[in-house]
Amino acid sequence: MTTVLVTGGTGYIGSHTCVALIEAGYDVVVLDNLYNSNEAVLGRIEQITGTRPKFYRTDILDRQGLDRIFEENKIDAVIHFAGYKAVGESVQIPLTYYENNISGSVNLYQCMKDHNCKTLVFSSSATVYGAPKSVPISEDFETHTTNPYGATKLMNEQILTDLCHSDEEWTVILLRYFNPIGAHKSGLLGEVPNGIPNNLVPYIARVANGQLEFLRVWGNDYPTPDGTGVRDYIHVVDLADGHICALKYAAEHKGVEMINLGTGVGYSVLEVLHAYEKACGKELPYKIMERRPGDIATCYADTTKAKRLLGWEAKYGIDQMCEDSWNFTVKNPDGIK
Ligand code: NAD
Ligand code: UFG
Repeated sequence: MTTVLVTGGTGYIGSHTCVALIEAGYDVVVLDNLYNSNEAVLGRIEQITGTRPKFYRTDILDRQGLDRIFEENKIDAVIHFAGYKAVGESVQIPLTYYENNISGSVNLYQCMKDHNCKTLVFSSSATVYGAPKSVPISEDFETHTTNPYGATKLMNEQILTDLCHSDEEWTVILLRYFNPIGAHKSGLLGEVPNGIPNNLVPYIARVANGQLEFLRVWGNDYPTPDGTGVRDYIHVVDLADGHICALKYAAEHKGVEMINLGTGVGYSVLEVLHAYEKACGKELPYKIMERRPGDIATCYADTTKAKRLLGWEAKYGIDQMCEDSWNFTVKNPDGIK
C-alpha cells in the first residue's frame, strides 16, 4: 500500500484530501500543529471513511519531529498543505509568513531528501498570476505577486523547480488552486475561518446564519457583466480528487509540473450570493462598497492541462458548492469541536 504523509491534514483542504486518499485506498499519515484546525477533524474523517488516520501533532519547523515521522513510517509521497494563508495578515507580519511557509517547507524538503522520499504535491495558488493580462489563465502565463503570502507560494515553486533540476529522481506537482469553497456532503467537514472571514463564501455563510448583518460587496464598477468581481470557485471535494490524480501521475513521471485546479468558469460576487440564497432559502442583504485594495476584476482557469495530464476535471457547479457550504454551516454553528 502506498503511504502518503499529509502536512496540514486537519485543515480545510487537507481534511477533504485525507477522505479522498482513504477512499482511494492509500494509507494516510497526518501531520499538523493544530494552529488553524482541531484534532476533532480526525474523528470526522473516521466517521466518513471508517478509518482514523495516524496523527502526529508536529510543526514543520521541528526537524526532529519530522525525522521521527519518517523513521516510524515508510512514507512514499508527501502532500504539503501546512502553511499560513491570509493575504492581509502576511502584509502585517511578513517574517512570520516567510518563517512558516519558506523555512518550514525547506525543512520538510530537506527531511524528505534525507529519507529518500522524492515525490511531492504542493499547494500553490492562482495568486501567483497576480493581475493576469487576459482570461482564461494558463500555466505559462507570467507570474508575479504583490504580497508576502503570494511570494511564499512563488518561492516554494522556485525552490522545488530547482530541486527537480538538481536531482532527476524527484517528482513535484505544483497545484495552483483557484477559489476553493464548499464542504463534504456529509456536513462533517468544511471550512472554519478564524474570526470574521475575509473570503466571500465563508462571509456569506455567516450572513445566512445571522452572525453577520449583511455582505459588503467590494465594488460594482469592474469591467464584468454585473460590475462585481469574477472568480473561479471550485468545490473542495473536486479539489481533493485533483490531488489523487496528481499522485497517480507522479507515480509514473519524473520532474516538475505546475497545474491549475479550477473549473474554468467564472462567477461574479452577486451570482454567488444569489446561488447561496437559493441554497439557504432566504434573501441575503448586501451593500455595495468601495473596491477592496489589491483585488482584480476577473480570474478563471484554463483547465486544459489538468485534463490532459491528470485526466481530471471538476464535477460540481456553484449551486452544489453553496448547498454543501450551507449544510455544513447549519450542522456546525460552533465549528468542528
Ligand atoms: P488551513 O489553514 O485550513 O490548513 C492548513 C493547516 O496547516 C492547518 O490545519 C494548520 O494548523 C496547519 N499548519 C500551519 N502551519 C503549520 C506548521 N508550521 N506545522 C504544521 N502544521 C501547520 O488552510 P487550507 O485552506 O486548507 O489551505 C491549505 C493549503 O492550500 C495552504 O498551503 C494554502 O496556502 C493553500 N491554498 C489555499 C487556498 C484557499 O483559498 N483555501 C487557495 C490557494 C492555496
Ligand atoms: N468579496 C466581497 N465581499 C467579501 C469578500 C469577498 O465582495 O466580504 C469579493 C472580492 O472582492 C472578490 C471575490 O469576492 O471579488 C472573491 O474574494 P475572496 O476573498 O473570497 O477570494 P480572492 O479571489 O480575493 O482570493 C482567494 C484567496 C487567496 C488566493 C486567491 C486565488 O483568499 O489566498 O483566492 O487562489 F490567492
